[in-house]
Amino acid sequence: MSKPDFVIRNLHVQVEGKEILKGVDLHIRGGEIHAIMGPNGTGKSTLASAIMGHPHYEVTEGEILLDGQNVLEMSVDERARAGLFLAMQYPAEVPGVSNANFIRTALNARRGEGNEIPVLQFHRRLVQKMKELSIDPSFAERYLNEGFSGGEKKRNEILQMAMLEPRIAILDEIDSGLDIDALKIVANGVNQLRSDNIGFLIITHYQRLLNYIVPDVVHVMMQGRIVKSGDAKLAEELEAKGYDWLKQELGIEDETVEVEA
Ligand SMILES: Nc1ncnc2c1ncn2[C@@H]1O[C@H](COP(=O)(O)OP(=O)(O)OP(=O)(O)O)[C@@H](O)[C@H]1O
Ligand SMILES: [Mg+2]
Repeated sequence: MSKPDFVIRNLHVQVEGKEILKGVDLHIRGGEIHAIMGPNGTGKSTLASAIMGHPHYEVTEGEILLDGQNVLEMSVDERARAGLFLAMQYPAEVPGVSNANFIRTALNARRGEGNEIPVLQFHRRLVQKMKELSIDPSFAERYLNEGFSGGEKKRNEILQMAMLEPRIAILDEIDSGLDIDALKIVANGVNQLRSDNIGFLIITHYQRLLNYIVPDVVHVMMQGRIVKSGDAKLAEELEAKGYDWLKQELGIEDETVEVEA
């Protein structure tokens, strides 16, 4: 398997006619963990949605390439099959679809027709991964996310990721709402998967997560752009000093996305 190579160039994205992303550049290679931090409402989740092909998010300029292939020409399904994965900030509840069935369908779609995982092998792997993530076995047959607590949803997103083995995994605030033990479990799940075969984009507000998942690169997003990149120390600096010094340094008054009236 070749190392993933994920490139975003000058990405502009509109939502309902409003420009939210205003030229995002990013390059993630297999084996790397990139973190994106930044104040509320600066475009982080919009970037995640645009990468996955959410229909509300219209790319008006720029490109996204996975292993040299044009992601913007792919359907949502094709993106998942190509190895893009998003753990959402707010995972949706899907009544009527069991967690296990959902994951098996997604995994088989990713593996492709004729290469479906044998049922027994699937269940063995699922049970193993659930154990590693301290998820109660009953969650396999429960409806996807229905009635899951906030932290249970987040752990379940990591379960899906561990089962699907994506090439590029985007984790949007995977640490929000997690208790301290769950945070370690989730971080452990990520670290176990860490290899040259996968690249991570981790969106978070808190340096705390990055103590457990040590990033190679930290980016700061403001006004729909990446305004600063550095190493793990940048996250520590932000934790200690907040965002004001950076806004001053960059001459930014309002960090949220400006939308012209
Ligand atoms: N579907 C949508 N409809 C209308 N506005 C949207 C939509 N999606 C994003 N926006 C707007 O785009 C801006 C950026 O939102 P986004 O969710 O990307 O922020 P974020 O950086 O993820 O913030 P947070 O840290 O609070 O999660 C916000 O002003 C938001 O209201
Ligand atoms: Mg967000």
